[in-house]
Amino acid sequence: MLYPFLRPALFALDPERAHGIAFAALDAAAKSGLARFVAPALPRDPVRVMGIDFPNRVGLAAGLDKDAAHLAGLATLGFGFLEAGTVTPRPQPGNPKPRMFRLPKADALINRLGFNNGGVERYVANVRASGYRGILGCNIGKNAVTPNDRAVDDYLACLAAVAPVASYVTVNVSSPNTKGLRDLQSEEALDALLARVVEARDERVQELGRALPLAIKIAPDLESDAIRGIARVLVARRVDAVIATNTTIARDGVASLPHGDEAGGLSGRPTFERSNVVIRTLAKALDGALPIIGVGGILSGDDAREKIACGASLVQLYTGLVYRGPALVAECVRALAAMGSEP
Ligand code: FNR
Repeated sequence: MLYPFLRPALFALDPERAHGIAFAALDAAAKSGLARFVAPALPRDPVRVMGIDFPNRVGLAAGLDKDAAHLAGLATLGFGFLEAGTVTPRPQPGNPKPRMFRLPKADALINRLGFNNGGVERYVANVRASGYRGILGCNIGKNAVTPNDRAVDDYLACLAAVAPVASYVTVNVSSPNTKGLRDLQSEEALDALLARVVEARDERVQELGRALPLAIKIAPDLESDAIRGIARVLVARRVDAVIATNTTIARDGVASLPHGDEAGGLSGRPTFERSNVVIRTLAKALDGALPIIGVGGILSGDDAREKIACGASLVQLYTGLVYRGPALVAECVRALAAMGSEP
């Protein structure tokens, strides 16, 4: 409601500063109880995915709340689930600033943050302190200094730490901003990584006495053959879900815009079609063996519906929130709930 009026002021600031101010306002609204009064009344649209009962199909994508430091505020916006991270075992500062850029003409962002985060210990403490009781996806990665041949150790350390507070865990092998990370998506490397991660997850499940679904997040910059190869590995390793997709290194349609040539991952409207191609290819290759969480370029309720039509069971939002504000969450929840009741 208010966002169209606030947006010009936020857009006048450096994107990371605007991010901080928006979160400060959200946290204050949540703390004062104000957020509960302005929270949207939303239809129920329950769905069971990965064995989890979601109140609706619209989630927050990873990267907005890297340290799980704003869960209480985010919970007031109407999301069916929140994914926080990517978190790494040890704290790290990320890349030098500036490292986040708006491309308003394209409803897009380019970021090369590089997993700036306070480390998994603080992340878990933040989750515990938040009082958040909704569905939480914990998105895990590796430190920049960890070589790929030891990446598995970082994923295992994060998995062990987040397991007690996670509804599901996402293994992020698709950020373009950590050197070599995407190499872990090759069929052989992914299979080797997942063998260890699934084994460790199974041990945690024994300890916790409850399920702990594992999701893998993949890049949009993959050929069809590579996507089919990944699908084979996910089915063989009995992974619970795949999140498609992360940001793209392509610059189709934005190369000539201001900031269009910045290095990093492009998100928002220009990623919509490419992400949909990946989702459709996955859906065909997986044939229902595991669910797909669709993310990339959702800026309206209709976009969210198209993700579901492509084969996604759930959707996630990030860049759309920057351009449309929090009202986008309610719009998507309503659009998808209406879809369920249509003949
Ligand atoms: C991201 N994204 C992301 N994904 C992830 O798995 N871990 C992360 O740490 C981040 N960080 C991050 C920072 C910023 C500034 C952006 C814009 C994005 C990717 C995000 O979750 C999503 O997959 C893509 O942005 C595509 O969706 P949207 O933004 O087009 O809705």
